[in-house]
Amino acid sequence: MRILKSSWLQILVHIAALVPLAWLVWDFTQGHLTANPIREIQLRTGKSTLTLLVLTLACRPIYTIFGLKQALQLRRLLGLYTFGYASLHFLNFVGVDYEFNFALIWADIANKRFVIVGFITFLILLALAVTSTGEWERRLGKNWTRLHRLIYAAALLAALHFIWQTKADFRVPFIYSGVVVLLLILRIPRIAKVVRIGGKWLKREQGGQGMVDEI
Ligand code: HEM
Repeated sequence: MRILKSSWLQILVHIAALVPLAWLVWDFTQGHLTANPIREIQLRTGKSTLTLLVLTLACRPIYTIFGLKQALQLRRLLGLYTFGYASLHFLNFVGVDYEFNFALIWADIANKRFVIVGFITFLILLALAVTSTGEWERRLGKNWTRLHRLIYAAALLAALHFIWQTKADFRVPFIYSGVVVLLLILRIPRIAKVVRIGGKWLKREQGGQGMVDEI
């Protein structure tokens, strides 16, 4: 039953993660991607990448607070979709926008700090995606966990990338950055311990409430 439940959850994640891409393709075919479609693709794929990265980071606290083991099983899938959207974002920049003109890309990278930060984030996501298999986990042993802690750095750098590329309204970038910082704070061992105790209390309360409801 549990397997059935988690595989349904996985199917749900596949569908939810593919919606932004389907929507993007639909809008592209309908000519709905503003007057500057390349920029619109860049912005939408960037937002999807960061959203998925945040969801990947949220799995552990969701497990800690609500005891939902299935959340942990979704991390790899969400992480791979994060990398998928990051690759589209990167390819749109390098291939579509700059037509693989590396001299021009180099000039842009040197001038725009947000591009450098985005590039470093992309490299981290690439390393995490390549080593996400069970075989790499066995091969790297303890270093696998150390390497995969780089997701915290990736999240912070992605938030910085978002803030630095923003020209006017900073509300959304600050909301994303706030969520990233909160999710990282929840991983500090002492805070995680308090949260875990709170989560257990919540579960007990819910259990008690359930009994009251049954009566
Ligand atoms: C080589 C890597 C990357 C490059 C070259 C790059 C480049 C860009 C560019 C050119 C923009 C649009 C700026 C504008 O037109 O105003 C942008 C926006 C954005 N990027 Fe990246 N980026 C990279 C990696 C990433 C990664 C890894 C993430 C997330 C994890 C990310 C998230 C975003 C977000 C959230 C936006 C803004 C979206 C919005 O304003 O709606 N980028 N990026």
